[in-house]
Amino acid sequence: MGGRAQPDRKQLPLVLLRLLCLLPTGLPVRSLDFTRGTDNITVRQGDTAILRCYVEDRSSKVAWLNRSGIIFAGQDKWSLDPRVELEKRTPLEYSLRIQKVDVYDEGSYTCSVQTQHHPRTSQVYLIVQVPPKISNISSDVTVNEGSNVTLVCMANGRPEPVITWRHLTPTGREFEGEEEYLEILGITREQSGKYECKAANEVSSADVKQVRVTVNYPPTITESKSNEAATGRQALLKCEASAVPTPDFEWYRDDTRINSANGLEIKSMGSQSLLMVANVTEEHYGNYTCVAANKLGVTNASLYLYSKY
Ligand SMILES: *[C@@H]1O[C@H](CO)[C@@H](O)[C@H](O)[C@H]1NC(C)=O
Ligand SMILES: *[C@@H]1O[C@H](CO)[C@@H](O)[C@H](O)[C@H]1NC(C)=O
Ligand SMILES: *[C@@H]1O[C@H](CO)[C@@H](O)[C@H](O)[C@H]1NC(C)=O
Ligand SMILES: *[C@@H]1O[C@H](CO)[C@@H](O)[C@H](O)[C@H]1NC(C)=O
Ligand SMILES: *[C@@H]1O[C@H](CO)[C@@H](O)[C@H](O)[C@H]1NC(C)=O
Ligand SMILES: *[C@@H]1O[C@H](CO)[C@@H](O)[C@H](O)[C@H]1NC(C)=O
Ligand SMILES: *[C@@H]1O[C@H](CO)[C@@H](O)[C@H](O)[C@H]1NC(C)=O
Repeated sequence: MGGRAQPDRKQLPLVLLRLLCLLPTGLPVRSLDFTRGTDNITVRQGDTAILRCYVEDRSSKVAWLNRSGIIFAGQDKWSLDPRVELEKRTPLEYSLRIQKVDVYDEGSYTCSVQTQHHPRTSQVYLIVQVPPKISNISSDVTVNEGSNVTLVCMANGRPEPVITWRHLTPTGREFEGEEEYLEILGITREQSGKYECKAANEVSSADVKQVRVTVNYPPTITESKSNEAATGRQALLKCEASAVPTPDFEWYRDDTRINSANGLEIKSMGSQSLLMVANVTEEHYGNYTCVAANKLGVTNASLYLYSKY
């Protein structure tokens, strides 16, 4: 559109007049209402930003400003920031270099060029990006089945990272939620395991951390097989219980507790317990009880050792 340049041209002398008035005083330059399209420059935190500006001839009067003041007026550095310097690879270049860019550098920067015939200013908007970083995540927790559990994962980054939670199940990753807080109401034993928090933005690869959730529950006997054995042979009774924490096992013959002695041996490992009879005699036949217990409960199952002829 041809009409667009008109208001700009009318505005420019006014802009420069105000700018030049401001130069000696160092007053805020916010009043510069320059409406030309702004270029964005995106830089990662810690990197160097170069804001390009070129003059038409060497006699131009030039300055770099940001929202809070003048950075350079001609060759004179007004800013006290050692990270800021001019980049002049050619006589007509008047670019601004900012090293080790940080988030507070974000904002608009104005290069003001005053020549005899073509006064102009150009503005760039510096966007500072920060890779996602998880700053705080819940520590591993142990809860009883049925409890309410809240996991928290906080992350920093620019743009604001998106947080996703997943339950890492043996069958694969199960999507859980998209919040800093993951609330599990009435947790079940199937919901125990590792939870992964992922914080992602477009700046770099996501930051990932894990929390282990242990769900305690009372024992249930999952296997208790009666067995048969001939006298003079070895016999084995097996009892298996599911429980967290790992259950303790006890064996009873009718109402009498059995210990590893007199040819009987109890071997408990993890969720399983074995009662072994080294040399079966008539009195070994009968009713046995396997008892599995942890701090949340106790349960039992009856097994029978039958004679085999
Ligand atoms: C600069 O970024 C802003 C917001 O981040 C956006 O609205 C604008 O369109 C961008 N300008 C250019 C020239 O890309
Ligand atoms: C503007 O520049 C001054 C001087 O270099 C600096 O202290 C200030 O942080 C800058 N402000 C912004 C918004 O970049
Ligand atoms: C992490 O978050 C927890 C819960 O909000 C809080 O109690 C703790 O102080 C935080 N730790 C750090 C290092 O911010
Ligand atoms: C778990 O949360 C629900 C809903 O907020 C509440 O009704 C229930 O009492 C809570 N249960 C426990 C064990 O705190
Ligand atoms: C089993 O016990 C019987 C009777 O006590 C004995 O005769 C036999 O030798 C034993 N067998 C083994 C393999 O120890
Ligand atoms: C074995 O003993 C248990 C408990 O003492 C009892 O409940 C069960 O009926 C008995 N089984 C047989 C087959 O006698
Ligand atoms: C097995 O469980 C039953 C029912 O809870 C109980 O009455 C019995 O005393 C238990 N037996 C043993 C040996 O703990």
